[in-house]
Amino acid sequence: MDDSLAVFIAGLPKAELHLHLEGSFEPEQMFAIARRNKANIPFKSAEEVRAAYRFSNLQDFLDIYYRAAGVLRSEEDFHDLTLAYLKRVAADGVRHAEVFFDPQTHTARGIPFATVTGGILRALNEGQNLGVTSKLILCFLRHLSEEDGFATFKEAEPWLDQIAGVGLDSSELGHPPSQFVRLFDAARTAGLKLVAHAGEEGPAEYVWEALDLLHVDRIDHGNRSLDDPRLVERLAAEQTALTVCPLSNLKLCVVKDMARHPLKRMLELGLRATVNSDDPAYFGGYVNDNFQAVTAALGLTRADLVALAKNSFLGSFLDDAKKVRHLAAVEAYAAANGS
Ligand code: HPA
Ligand code: ZN
Repeated sequence: MDDSLAVFIAGLPKAELHLHLEGSFEPEQMFAIARRNKANIPFKSAEEVRAAYRFSNLQDFLDIYYRAAGVLRSEEDFHDLTLAYLKRVAADGVRHAEVFFDPQTHTARGIPFATVTGGILRALNEGQNLGVTSKLILCFLRHLSEEDGFATFKEAEPWLDQIAGVGLDSSELGHPPSQFVRLFDAARTAGLKLVAHAGEEGPAEYVWEALDLLHVDRIDHGNRSLDDPRLVERLAAEQTALTVCPLSNLKLCVVKDMARHPLKRMLELGLRATVNSDDPAYFGGYVNDNFQAVTAALGLTRADLVALAKNSFLGSFLDDAKKVRHLAAVEAYAAANGS
């Protein structure tokens, strides 16, 4: 790839809309926090941990990801994890981040909901001083029951003024959106935004269910939507944002080769696709690494990159006035940098 494109990506103002905080847990920080908590890690070094990150599918990854999250215990741990992510992406030109957390992963092992959420929110507030605004999205684990999700939603009640939305993540196959209709109805009634992972490993049918049964505002991943022309038409007509994660797709074998990644085709089809990192500590890079990898493999142009940056703000849950300001910043950057 042309070096000037890498420089263009680096400074491009952008939003990240698909990021699991537990997936930003870098091995070095894992060792530091394990030491602080006198917890054991079955590895000798950060390099050894990274060498173990070879996955053949989503479940392979999730098994390791949930085990590593077990090191996180105190409010300070959740704060430090979140602040490290914000510091890292401030350097990537990220101006706004809508981040996921998985409370059930922690409450199931006795960590209070308030410890997790309080630590994360304290860091998100501090992130404003770094020039990164944020919104927090509570994800329900779809391998657990809807009833378990309701118990978590009840615990979240006192925090709902600080939680922008709910999502649905974890093992997709065998856990369709249709299993969570009542839970998402309750979240919608509470005034929350709704997102769901769909069409990562699961079929286009799961994307239809997320749209028609859960009434989501955004689809996380959505790759398999391209299998269904009627679905593509619907997503394009409604300009539903897809939070696409190229390096994640490569590492979890959702795509065989970055040259075959559907991102460019999504843009050509008029879909509101965005570029995101998903779980950057596990998949080999933060948001700009993802932009660079797809740009190099698919020959994206400056115009494509500008469209992706605009999509990231348009697909966000920011109010219209803030969207307008961010879109103007993207346009000013593009004009000042030769496109
Ligand atoms: N898919 C589903 N669940 C997840 C992911 C993902 O990519 N990352 C973290 N939890
Ligand atoms: Zn994800």
